[in-house]
Amino acid sequence: MTVLDALAKNKSAAQQRLIDWLRIPSISTDPKYRDQCRAAGQWACDQLRELGFDAKLVETGDVKDGKGSGHPVVLATIAPKQSYSGPHVLFYGHYDVQPVDPLNLWESDPFNPVVRAARTGQAGGERIVARGAVDDKGQVATFLEACRAWKQTSGHATNGAAYTILLEGEEESGSANLERFVKDHAAMLKKTDVCLISDTGMVDRDKPAITYGVRGLAYTQITLHASNQDLHSGLWGGRCPNPITELCYVLSQLHDKDRRITIPHFYDDVRPISQAEREAWAKLSNDTGVTAESTLAKIGLKRDADVGESGYTFIEREWGRPTAEINGIWGGYTGEGAKTVIPAHASAKVSFRLVADQKPEVVTQQFFNWLKSKTPTGCRWELEDLHGGYGVTTPTESVTLKKAMRALERATGTQPYMIKSGGSIPVAGMLKSMLGLDTIFMGFGLDDDRVHSPNEKFEIACFEMGMKAHAMLIDELTK
Ligand code: BES
Ligand code: MN
Ligand code: MN
Repeated sequence: MTVLDALAKNKSAAQQRLIDWLRIPSISTDPKYRDQCRAAGQWACDQLRELGFDAKLVETGDVKDGKGSGHPVVLATIAPKQSYSGPHVLFYGHYDVQPVDPLNLWESDPFNPVVRAARTGQAGGERIVARGAVDDKGQVATFLEACRAWKQTSGHATNGAAYTILLEGEEESGSANLERFVKDHAAMLKKTDVCLISDTGMVDRDKPAITYGVRGLAYTQITLHASNQDLHSGLWGGRCPNPITELCYVLSQLHDKDRRITIPHFYDDVRPISQAEREAWAKLSNDTGVTAESTLAKIGLKRDADVGESGYTFIEREWGRPTAEINGIWGGYTGEGAKTVIPAHASAKVSFRLVADQKPEVVTQQFFNWLKSKTPTGCRWELEDLHGGYGVTTPTESVTLKKAMRALERATGTQPYMIKSGGSIPVAGMLKSMLGLDTIFMGFGLDDDRVHSPNEKFEIACFEMGMKAHAMLIDELTK
């Protein structure tokens, strides 16, 4: 029996195993789900043990600064074959998921996974619908199932290749404890040569891709305080600052008319997009027919919504340029009907996506300094740094990256594209700066998988492609 035969034979059992994992509501950001997070980690730990790994849960402890929830890390190793001379791969994934809200927009219970066909008008085939289906349990499962098939065919889950497995439980809530974990385990992690992550996407169905870079992130929460109490807007309006109005006025200055970020020195460290990349990305858009128009259509917008920093294409803006976003803004009365009030304070969540050479802590400081320089008269700021992460770019000459390309090609019969992503995966920057490790992102998600949104899905064809690709990568490493 070949490894591909084993995968084919296991298909429905593999789906069932993933469904079992998806049933565990491992929402890392919400303390209510603390036990379930641990249970989801334990589930993965048990799977890895069954596959012959030496696996354990590592406590990340109670975090005194209140920033982390201390969900355990799953850490697993397997003794490689004596004769193995390839790279030692660190496979990273996360078992935690995003919150489900707004719950009323889910067509089925987010933690009662259903396998169903596309609705009329929807693209794609059969899919598993559940929170975490593609981000990231389903993608981690593609790797676990490849290991299972190898164990069945060769007696060894990685066919003798050196793998260390690290599954995090706090990725979706900012990886607060990961840096300390990496520090504490530096000696063992240093033995690995390259990191491998399946937590990204492809160009489209049947257009597999390796992602060679993700952006960094700096995430903040800001509050503007004025009066020491909420006020009657008739009695006080026009006599003192309204913090919502003032906050909006300040934040409206974040971008200039070319949609460039106005914070002084913000672009100082930004590495310009190389001519070679600009050409490659333009060619990719040409070859695949993925255009601003075609992608905007998927979110209900037309060509005129191709809006962003001037002088850059839609791909360049996502993959190679930094951005500033207001992720939430609140204050005052938001209930039913009217209430004439001037609130005492107003708040916003503001985050920045960063590119190569930008440092999240520097950007956050620049932003806070900019806010302070614009403090509205009679008001005061309360500024919080929530979390951050560095962006990374994988050197395209990496030998393991080439093996991953070859594995994807063997699994799908098509040559994979080389893409970047605008999303962020904080561990990659940490491994690069702390241990010098490069990361290869081999992911199987689609643009319309609704990551972080209601009705998140992972298409069965993508799930199977992922299993095959990981099985072939193990083959590439060991042959
Ligand atoms: N898997 C995503 C990131 C991603 C998705 C990268 C698709 C590339 C393609 C990851 O779980 C995620 O959501 N990351 C967060 C950052 C985190 C610090 C909350 C993000 O990008 O917002
Ligand atoms: Mn993810
Ligand atoms: Mn995510």
